[in-house]
Parts: sequence; structure tokens; C-alpha cells
Amino acid sequence: MFITNTSFVVNERRSPLSLDKKLLDWYDHNARVLPWRAAVGERADPYRVWLSEIMLQQTGVKTVIPYFEAFTTRFPTVEDMARAERDEVLRLWAGLGYYSRARNLHACAVEVVERHGGRFPDTVEGLLGMPGIGAYTAGAIASIAFGRRVVAVDGNVERVLSRVYQVEEALPKARPIITRLAQDLVPERAGDFAQSLMDLGATICTPKNPACGLCPWVAECGARKAGTMLDYPKKLAKKAKQMRYGAAFVARRADGAVLIGTRPEKGLLGGMVEVPNSAWTVEPVDALEPPLQAEWRHCGSVDHVFTHFPLRLAVYAAEVGMKVKAPEPYRWSSPNGPEGEALPTLFRKVLGVCKVPSP
Ligand code: ADE
Repeated sequence: MFITNTSFVVNERRSPLSLDKKLLDWYDHNARVLPWRAAVGERADPYRVWLSEIMLQQTGVKTVIPYFEAFTTRFPTVEDMARAERDEVLRLWAGLGYYSRARNLHACAVEVVERHGGRFPDTVEGLLGMPGIGAYTAGAIASIAFGRRVVAVDGNVERVLSRVYQVEEALPKARPIITRLAQDLVPERAGDFAQSLMDLGATICTPKNPACGLCPWVAECGARKAGTMLDYPKKLAKKAKQMRYGAAFVARRADGAVLIGTRPEKGLLGGMVEVPNSAWTVEPVDALEPPLQAEWRHCGSVDHVFTHFPLRLAVYAAEVGMKVKAPEPYRWSSPNGPEGEALPTLFRKVLGVCKVPSP
């Protein structure tokens, strides 16, 4: 059965067990053990569910686990996080990317404590619109932490359902169709169902090499029957993203201190720490504007991919005297360098290419 618009018919060749039952049976035996998940039969802690879902937005489980452990050790409750300086939250987040998520994380913790008495709202409507919480995260928290019969549709779920139902509409237009298909399946165990779909998408119904032989929905999957799994989800062709270029300057004193600054609150990597760097432009700029007079040496380049563009930074390094004052708006990091600072991956890479300045 092909699904081409919002008035659809659910796959007619139903097996004796319904789709939701089959998936939950599979989940009961195959659920991934993850630190934010509750033990079988227990309800998950909303704070841990919220924190994990914010971290899992566009980042994989493997990367998230150590960050989740570090955050919950330092901030065991939402009150602990709300009480902390935002900078500390940004520092702990460094390396996870998408720093507006860390700023929203702290703002949301403050809102939960100050406006909701330390309890997360328990409905999609109540959660929606809190800092950093969109439709997907609201659905995930409401179902996993509060058992609401709602769905959380992310890329994994889009892939699974578009294959099972052969959704011919391309994303993003297909999203409301897929959301409806998913919503119609949600059983009583809504939280487990949401997580079972996530696990199915992450471990079985993978983008390039789905393990259909292990899938609890193999008998019902339209794309599997047609042998067209890799054609779904349908996507509109993406526009090529234009490369940007810039330069970064690593000024290091003999004691190991590095010249750093704090990026403006608004915009990319807002509020994070940086080394001095130029504007990022679509044409490489030849004229260098280093932050201070020194013998600057080119020591390599760094490539980094942001959501909206790839970036190439030429990296320059210089050794400067202990008495050199930091020019405005910069400052010297501690003698061990800026390791403990909220330094995003881009600038960690920059420091990595010129660890020891050339003599
Ligand atoms: N991806 C997003 N949320 C998730 C969750 N709760 N468990 C596993 N993977 C996820």
C-alpha cells in the first residue's frame, strides 16, 4: 500500500499481532541499555529524560553517554543545574556542538525551577515552547517520562515509517503524514513505544544497510516487499552548501597561556570561547589582521562542517613575551591553556594543528 497523501489506508496485510504489539515484544528483548532509561516497569525521571533528549538532538547515543554522565554527576537534579552559572553548563557542553542548545538547556532548567516549582510540565502543550523544546522533544518527554500517548518523530522514525508504509511524499512535506501514521500506532505503553521506534531505527532499520531479517516488522514492511528500502524516506534534492574561509591566530606565551576571547551571545557558537579569528567569507581573504604584532607563522589549516556551511580556517601561531598585554577584547587563558574553558570543537581543532609553535 503506497501512501501519497494525508488520507491513507494502513497496510492491509496485517499479521495476527498488531504492529505496536510486535514492536513492543521486540523491544522487551532488545532494548538498548542506556543511562537515562528507567528499569523495566519503572517510570523514567523527567529531568534525565529531558537532559538526554536535548543532548540527542542531532547527536548520536555513543557521543552523548559520557556527556550525560558528566552532567548528571555535576547536576544530579534540575535545581542543581538552575543554580549553576551558565558558563559552567557551556563548559561541560563543550565538544557536543550546537551551543544554542546548551544556552537553552540552562534557561529551561531555570524556567522549570522558577516558573514550575522544579517539576517539568507533563503534557506536550505544557512542554512546547520552553527553551530548547520543540515538537519532537516535547513528544519524547511527554511519552517517556509521563506516559502520554503521543509520538516523537525524528529522522529515525521518519525512515522506519516511510519504509513500512512506502510514503511517496518527500520530506519535509511528508512529516505530517508520517506523524499521523505514527500517532495511529501509539499503544498504552507510549514511552516504550517511542523508544522502541528509536532503537529500531538506530539498530535495525538503518539508512544504508537495514537488517530486515531481524526486524519485527519485516512481514508488514511495504518497502521490504518491493526491495526498495533504500529509496525511503524520499527527500527533496539539497542545495549545495557554500564553503567559507577564514584565519585563526594562536598567540602563546612561554607559560602556555593562549590569547582567547568570548564570542558574542547571539549567533554561531554564541557565548563560547574562541581564539582570535577573522570574518568567515565565501572568498578566501589574503590580507591578514592578527590581534597583535608578532612573528606569525602559518602552521596548517582546519576544516569544520557547520549545519549551514563548511568552513576552512588557515591557522597562524606566534610565541609572544610574558609581558605582552592582551589586546581588547581578548584575555590570556590560564597557563595550561584554555582546556577548561567552553572551547568548541572548531577551536580545539585549531589548537591541535599548532600545539608547539614553530621555533
Ligand atoms: N534518540 C533520541 N532519543 C533517544 C532515546 N530516548 N533513546 C535512544 N535514542 C534516542
